[in-house]
Amino acid sequence: MKIKEIAIVGLGYVGLPLAISLSKRYKVFGFDINKKRIKELKRNFDETNEINKEQLKKSFKKGFSVSHEKDRLKQSNIYIITVPTPVNKENKPELKPLLDACKTVGKNIKKDDIVVFESTVYPGLTQEICGNELQKHSGLNLEKDFFLGYSPERINPGDKIHTVDKIAKVISSENENVKKILREIYSNVTNGKVFIAKNIMVAEASKVIENAQRDINIAFINEVAKICQKLNISVYDVLDASKTKWNFLPFYPGLVGGHCIGVDPFYLADIAKKHKVKPSVVLSGRKTNDEMSKFIYSQINKKIEKSSKILILGLTFKENVPDLRNSKVFDLIKYFKKSHEVYACDPLVGNISEKKIKLICYENLKKHKFDVIILAVAHKLFIEFEVNKLITFLKKDGMIADLTGIWRDKKEIKNYWSL
Ligand SMILES: NC(=O)c1ccc[n+]([C@@H]2O[C@H](COP(=O)([O-])OP(=O)(O)OC[C@H]3O[C@@H](n4cnc5c(N)ncnc54)[C@H](O)[C@@H]3O)[C@@H](O)[C@H]2O)c1
Repeated sequence: MKIKEIAIVGLGYVGLPLAISLSKRYKVFGFDINKKRIKELKRNFDETNEINKEQLKKSFKKGFSVSHEKDRLKQSNIYIITVPTPVNKENKPELKPLLDACKTVGKNIKKDDIVVFESTVYPGLTQEICGNELQKHSGLNLEKDFFLGYSPERINPGDKIHTVDKIAKVISSENENVKKILREIYSNVTNGKVFIAKNIMVAEASKVIENAQRDINIAFINEVAKICQKLNISVYDVLDASKTKWNFLPFYPGLVGGHCIGVDPFYLADIAKKHKVKPSVVLSGRKTNDEMSKFIYSQINKKIEKSSKILILGLTFKENVPDLRNSKVFDLIKYFKKSHEVYACDPLVGNISEKKIKLICYENLKKHKFDVIILAVAHKLFIEFEVNKLITFLKKDGMIADLTGIWRDKKEIKNYWSL
């Protein structure tokens, strides 16, 4: 099969870097339903901060094109779907974006085309649900007229070391020829680092357990952090000692938000329940991590006066990204707002008016004096902060609460709390 054009469906944190990487070798078309996103990309602006202006300009020059026009998808013969797979209010898989994407792609695929899914799903979903949906809208027969592939994404937003080109990629298909094509395509992205999984279900399972495992490991350390609070020792000091053992896994406590670690375990739990397996460990990890914001709030709240003026540093779900989705810092703010005046500062974040948060820009911090400063997210910029300068934003006897433990050895901070 000759690769005419690869269409990337969903140009977010996963889709855009993949499209840029593939466009070095192939003709690539990027499709997204978000018109604003398409407009911005055409102006060489990526709001996720993953791809810079120069990289975008270069790719467009090489033939990369983007659009929200569905019909344009007809020109491609390989489709890679990278749309969100969130959960609903009951923490059940919300498949609407995936089904919508299948409908759009289904209406545009032709005989012999290949549709690859990168979105994180539970094992079986790609073939049973997406395969059927594609058949329904295309009128073509699965694995006869068109073919499926699955290749989970492992990128780590904000991480400039483990970039797309350096991470081994798991690929899978039920068809030998498609495996060969996917190996060729993805080898170009990852410098040859591809692993062919036994089948699509195995590849799907491999991804979802990677993130569930991370969630459970963090949950264990969060539980340890709670024990350490009672014992009046720092969990970070404990970890410094434990991680000197060769096989100790250094996970860190804190808020687990975002759209991967805090979401994917629910996909695993869902398929487990459907097969009458009780996912006790998976859901216990989720519960422990989801309760962390309340625990952190209660620890800090009992140490401070009522109606304190509080500054929260960092709003995003993790460090060095502008992504606010499912950030547990907002839970923390919600608890504190009940009896305190809360301000927040996050230079990586743009407009968040809908969240009704009092934002202070970095440069204006000096105009305020706070009773409490809470470091919620360890952006590089905050790590580089002069602690002496930070103290000047505090009232006399004000407290610094450091969720990340980075300032725990700073003697200048007289009133300090950490996990
Ligand atoms: N972000 C990560 O770190 C990461 C890492 C590994 C895997 N994943 C998985 O990859 C998938 C995508 O995640 P993301 O973070 O890139 O999401 P995202 O929200 O950043 O991007 C998804 C994009 O898809 C678009 N979209 C939604 N519905 C669409 C449709 N029907 N047709 C076309 N475009 C559509 C959205 O407008 C958005 O631009 C998810 O399944 C996620 O779990 C994400």
